[in-house]
Amino acid sequence: MTTSAVVRVRVPAKINLALCVGPRADDGFHPLGTVFEAVNLFDEVLLWPADEVNLNIVGEGVDAVPVGPENLATKAFALLAARYTLPAPGVHLEIRKSIPVAGGMAGGSADAAATLLAVNEWAGLGMDAEELRSHAAELGSDVPFALLGGVALGTGRGDHVMPIMQRGHHHWVLAFSEGGLSTPAVYGRFDELVPDGRDVDVPDAMIDALAAGDVEHLASTLRNDLQEAALDLRPDLQKILDAGQRAGALAGIVSGSGPTCAFLCRNEDAAVRVSAALVAEPGIVGVRRVHGPVPGAKIIREHA
Ligand code: C5P
Repeated sequence: MTTSAVVRVRVPAKINLALCVGPRADDGFHPLGTVFEAVNLFDEVLLWPADEVNLNIVGEGVDAVPVGPENLATKAFALLAARYTLPAPGVHLEIRKSIPVAGGMAGGSADAAATLLAVNEWAGLGMDAEELRSHAAELGSDVPFALLGGVALGTGRGDHVMPIMQRGHHHWVLAFSEGGLSTPAVYGRFDELVPDGRDVDVPDAMIDALAAGDVEHLASTLRNDLQEAALDLRPDLQKILDAGQRAGALAGIVSGSGPTCAFLCRNEDAAVRVSAALVAEPGIVGVRRVHGPVPGAKIIREHA
């Protein structure tokens, strides 16, 4: 597109500090207790009015992203178009991706959240945070958090989100690896490995560590119940986790359903050392230093 976008939204990736997964329910979903943190790895969604819906996705790994009606951003537009009168029959959406595709960092959910916010702004719908949240929850379990950002407790399917008071700033190193992992496939393997599920209560020790701003204590409380299933499907990830730990990370976990691995570091210097060590590790296609928490989806006022 040559003309400036009417609306441009920036939306962060998430890491789950805790992902406590209960037994599969009859609807196929799992009750969760999760702690999300938004980090400064962003996708952008740009919107122009158009006669029909049209999606253009740019960035690393985008060949794997569907551009049809099954794309979560398209679904977000369709959901609002069915419920509100919009100024045009369609939109052209451009998604500029930095969040890894099928990487366990909620990239698709982030794009859906950004689209809701963009349409709300463009069409002057005036939805408040709660209205946006309820549309978001229909689109996917991680979409409400992408709107909220910061650090939050997620319950239900992960879609009921509540901010958590916390102090400080966390330095993370992300290791992206070849290929993606399907979230349903990882949950499916979890069901085979842990048929009764785990306890969904987020550890009090994590909440205390966040409130105190104690990063070492926080590192000792990181928990991902999907990690065993992700490692079962992708045993190569264990080497990456070990390498980060050897390089001095306080702790390393698989992010969400993987395969991205996230390493919490004591400070920026430590993060620099860990990222330098991981760059040389076989099987890693990209390493990125990020920090959190950062706010959720935001409209960018100054257009590029
Ligand atoms: O909600 P979302 O579309 O992101 O979920 C993708 C898939 O992840 C679901 O179809 C389901 O297989 C799995 N999931 C789950 N329990 C949750 C969230 C997601 O089983 N609480």
